Amino acid sequence: MIKANKKIIQKAAHVLRHGGLVAFPTETVYGLGANVFDARAVARIFKAKQRPSDNPLIVHVASVAAVTHLVQHIPPVARQLMKKFWPGPLTLVLRKRSIIPRIVTAGLGTVCVRMPQHPVALAFIRAAGVPIAAPSANLSGKPSATSANAVRDDFHDAVDMILDGGKTKVGLESTVVDCTVMPPVVLRQGGTTIEALRRVVPDIVIGADHTTTRRSPGTRYRHYAPFAPLTIARGEIKEIAIAIQRFIDRYPQRRVGVLATKELVDRYHRAAAILVLGSRRSLTACARNLFSALRQFDKLNVDYIIAESFPLRGMGRVMMERLERAAQK
Ligand code: TXA
Ligand code: MG
Repeated sequence: MIKANKKIIQKAAHVLRHGGLVAFPTETVYGLGANVFDARAVARIFKAKQRPSDNPLIVHVASVAAVTHLVQHIPPVARQLMKKFWPGPLTLVLRKRSIIPRIVTAGLGTVCVRMPQHPVALAFIRAAGVPIAAPSANLSGKPSATSANAVRDDFHDAVDMILDGGKTKVGLESTVVDCTVMPPVVLRQGGTTIEALRRVVPDIVIGADHTTTRRSPGTRYRHYAPFAPLTIARGEIKEIAIAIQRFIDRYPQRRVGVLATKELVDRYHRAAAILVLGSRRSLTACARNLFSALRQFDKLNVDYIIAESFPLRGMGRVMMERLERAAQK
């Protein structure tokens, strides 16, 4: 695990070009990268993560021009989205060219492409000279890693190098939008909010909601889950506080962890651990801390986790989607 600088990034690019796996920071979460054209290196990613082989990877680029080599065609709506949101937490599904090995896309005719907005990620991709196939750098099913330490906790020596770029800014993964259909469909909510997307593509369809079945392959699996079972306390603010205290009192012999906000933290008594995500006035700040808190509960050995719920707008809506899936047993 090395603090990224110019020289270290050059070294990481060398490792990647020679079949290595390099974890790197992006603005969303850390990625576990391999040379997209090296099927053997990509196979090592699936193995290290214990990822099902039917779950395709995102290909990371440092320019729009790089995309033209990877896909058959960039539809106007995709161009518009790139122009508005790249570099940034938006991933686009496009029709792939055969130059991309099958293993990267799990045999699909489409590929996910994204230009991350992190100086280390961009410098690394440029230095590598090839697009980088990378899923989130976590064991399959665990919350994504938002720090270099979290990556190391999951992989130890199974990765060749970890570029340390500090704590990630967004803290949740990118939004995935399928641009092979019209109107485009949101397959996974993430760092680019639905509200922001609608301002550019008003008729965009939300596919990844509890109400629909159309989803990106990865969203079929249980995800983002700490070891302890997680329950969400719903309702108005007052009801949330009461429900959580009741939950704590129901299990006096157990270690209950509370996922809290500043506004309500003083309302909880006798919990084994309380982790505060931030103030409800900034759902963006809360989102940034969500995955590290879920990972922290694992270290605190809690038996149960009870989480406050969040309003279904902006990053609150994305947090709720992740919490719902962490709560699935
Ligand atoms: O923010 C992010 O997107 C992070 C950083 C590292 O870029 N990456 C990430 O990758 O979250 P991963 O592998 O954890 O999630 C990628 C999602 C999965 O749900 C996968 O099924 C979906 O994108 N996906 C990949 N290729 C696809 C395709 N061709 N069609 C539909 N969905 C696809
Ligand atoms: Mg992932």
